[in-house]
Amino acid sequence: MSVDYFNLPPISHSPYGESNHTIVPLLPTIYPFDYAHGLRHLLPTIYHLLPSNAIISSIMTKPVILTGIRANNDLTIGNYFGAILPIIDMAKKHSGDYQINMFIPDLHSFTTPIDHTKLYEQTINNAKLFVAAGLPIDNQNIFMYRQSFIPAHSELTIILDSFTGFGEMSRMIQFKDKSNSVGADRTSLGLFNYPVLMASDILLYNAKYVPVGDDQSQHLEFTRDIAQRMNSKFNELFVVPDSVKNQHEFFGKDQGLRIMDLINPIKKMSKSDDSGRGVIFLNDNPVIAAKKVMGATTDDKAKINFDRDNQPGISNLLEILSLLQGVTLQSVTDQFKGQTNYGDFKKVVAGEVEKFLTDFQKKLVEVDENTVITKLEQSERDLTPIANATLSRVQQAVGLRPNTGDITRSEG
Ligand code: TRP
Repeated sequence: MSVDYFNLPPISHSPYGESNHTIVPLLPTIYPFDYAHGLRHLLPTIYHLLPSNAIISSIMTKPVILTGIRANNDLTIGNYFGAILPIIDMAKKHSGDYQINMFIPDLHSFTTPIDHTKLYEQTINNAKLFVAAGLPIDNQNIFMYRQSFIPAHSELTIILDSFTGFGEMSRMIQFKDKSNSVGADRTSLGLFNYPVLMASDILLYNAKYVPVGDDQSQHLEFTRDIAQRMNSKFNELFVVPDSVKNQHEFFGKDQGLRIMDLINPIKKMSKSDDSGRGVIFLNDNPVIAAKKVMGATTDDKAKINFDRDNQPGISNLLEILSLLQGVTLQSVTDQFKGQTNYGDFKKVVAGEVEKFLTDFQKKLVEVDENTVITKLEQSERDLTPIANATLSRVQQAVGLRPNTGDITRSEG
């Protein structure tokens, strides 16, 4: 069977691939943009009481940075320094000029089997964790929401499914890896469909910038493919997100920050480690975590020196110390230059780990759950019309809804 639209070559000249300033909000505008914008700055306290169209006009004007944060309870200090903090820094840094969409992909959470009695709580806990780590949720340019609370994610996915090839999904590396590890009987259609849902997450909000790790770059490329495929078949429906290469240029490729396992320092610290002895979890008892540091593997060189190849254990502890003290690697290395006693060095690191976890856990319990839920609900209310506008454009294009004429996008 040949189905032409599965194999269309990517179109690189799509005008919507270049900029998303050209998006026309396909919604009746009650307030002209400047009025809404002005109001927003003049009257921040009543901003959320404004009619939603005013908010839409205002938030539709900024390019969108979007990222999904998986619900997970047992995050490690590696996740904290390697993923959570960089995302929060990025959000703070760009929130003046960009709209930041941070969402929890709760529907993605059970593409492989999980304990469903814990999912909802984990979702909320995840949001709280971001707040405890410093995400400013009172910032009006930062939106935090749950995927399943905006039904357009699911609806767009089922439409895009029919324009996606079985072959192209079968070739996805994450699908191949995960389906191999859980076995065919436990491999769900949800896992197969994971990249299509992810494409919907991105395309619904016209997002141009999507920071992704290496494990997700193939999914981002698929998002571009399906967007371009739909655009060439149905005219310009979607903003095509930037290529992986451009994403790395925009965000700065992560500097290879990797916290290694304490027991086996040539392996990345990972929550799926069997014993957990070499892993520091954010919810570890601080005293026990300090003991884990004292038990970290070192070497017999009696030299506190940063050399990942020859002294991976010591180098890892230096790295952890520099992150915890918020100083450069060079400065911690200088601090211990000439010292030979690993026990004393470990005590310093263990003390910092204990202090960090104590402080973080205190902050986490202090995060007010109601404030977090209010933020989630507010973002979901604000963004639903945006997602629905995209969905509606697609529904009209594919013939599910009558073409009202005002839904076609004009180019700015
Ligand atoms: N798949 C991403 C991950 O595992 C999470 C995710 C889901 C996502 N939808 C997304 C990330 C859309 C960026 C954009 O980390």
